Amino acid sequence: MFEDVVKSYPTVVGRERKDLEKFGNLCSGYIGKHIVGKGEEAHLTTKVFLDFMKVHVILVCGKRGSGKSYSASVILEEFSFLPDEFRKKMSFVVIDPVGIYWSMKFPNKQQESLLREWNLEPKGLENLKVLVPSGQIDEYKKAGIPVDGTISLNLKDLTIEEILLAFGIKRLSEEGVALEKSFSKLQTRGLDFDLLDMIEELKKDENVKKEVKQGLISLLETANSWGLVSKKGLKVEDIVEPGKITVIDFSRMRSEELRNLLVALLTREIYRLRVLSRKEEERAKISGEKPKFSFPITWMLFEEAHNFIPSEKEVASSLPIKILARQGREPGVGVIVITQMPSRLHQDILSQTDIVISFRLTSRDDLTALHAVMQTYMEEEIESYINSLPRFPGAAIILDDNLEKVFTVAIRPRISWHAGGTAQLV
Ligand SMILES: Nc1ncnc2c1ncn2[C@@H]1O[C@H](COP(=O)(O)OP(=O)(O)OP(=O)(O)O)[C@@H](O)[C@H]1O
Ligand SMILES: [Mg+2]
Repeated sequence: MFEDVVKSYPTVVGRERKDLEKFGNLCSGYIGKHIVGKGEEAHLTTKVFLDFMKVHVILVCGKRGSGKSYSASVILEEFSFLPDEFRKKMSFVVIDPVGIYWSMKFPNKQQESLLREWNLEPKGLENLKVLVPSGQIDEYKKAGIPVDGTISLNLKDLTIEEILLAFGIKRLSEEGVALEKSFSKLQTRGLDFDLLDMIEELKKDENVKKEVKQGLISLLETANSWGLVSKKGLKVEDIVEPGKITVIDFSRMRSEELRNLLVALLTREIYRLRVLSRKEEERAKISGEKPKFSFPITWMLFEEAHNFIPSEKEVASSLPIKILARQGREPGVGVIVITQMPSRLHQDILSQTDIVISFRLTSRDDLTALHAVMQTYMEEEIESYINSLPRFPGAAIILDDNLEKVFTVAIRPRISWHAGGTAQLV
């Protein structure tokens, strides 16, 4: 019965049946086509769409070179093509430690003939801006990467817990106590401060042992050399713009500590501003007035997500991302996590995922992790779906918890340039 009703509607991944009946494929993106049949027999049938009307927690996984980053970009493209009335209420932030999303500004001339087969044309995105760490802008420019602006952190906006986690310092260790003391002193002053101020504050503290002091100072000096911390700091309202994709490219920054701190702050702020904006939207609805403050519904995409929310340890960005996954639906913050190994992602993300796009996976641990996401399915069932995937690039299974369905799809080719392909000598 249920099957019969759904069959007469397009497939909109993530959209519940009642919304499907009411809205069809309104405010969704065309991400690919159904695959019917196995192996040689496999062929493509009707279109598959992805819901943008609500936010979701999406896991994109699969082994190396299987099409994860490529398909994440298809999602970004589809966001860009939404009618203005929807797109302008939303925004995307891409956390890119690999340095591949900037190329979406350019058309996909590499796969022109494939695109033609799908009745698509190469096109670069105009609503995408690339931000890089403030101290590294010249390096990026020299490498020919089209940079639109910089991003930096003001220490005042962070918590001591985040700083300690980022540097892997235990709170009750001598280093932890010393760092916390200097940090609190500067913070109670209420002025903006950077790493050099922290170093000065530490130098003044006579109760800290010389070797502890030296160790901390050299840690902070190294961190300072990355040029990500400045008194100016980031203002999330300037970074996240309605209707736009903001790519934060960290690919030239090897300091995981600072990268995770920035991701922690950004994630925390986006969540906070959405909670405020949601309250204001409600108030305005009730009173009939115009909202006094607004911040777009935001999707955060984490490339190589196991770095930002790993299963085996806690890093500075772990908690803010967990909060997004657990509580982001109501205020309207979506999450897309991309990883080769879902088993290396924290359980809290897996348990909150409502859509999985999985390419080929071979390790048992990773298949078990997928099963943990969608317990409605048997592990063997998921495995047999994955094993029966045809071997062309872009073939994936989609597990949709909203419709409790699993099906195989071919992700459509990208219209924008893909910079993340496999390196090849000739
Ligand atoms: N839907 C698709 N249509 C056509 N080609 C595709 C598709 N998906 C992937 N490819 C091809 O496969 C290559 C690898 O894809 P991609 O870079 O997305 O892999 P990945 O899963 O992100 O790998 P890694 O784990 O190494 O980052 C692409 O360069 C592209 O040529
Ligand atoms: Mg990739």
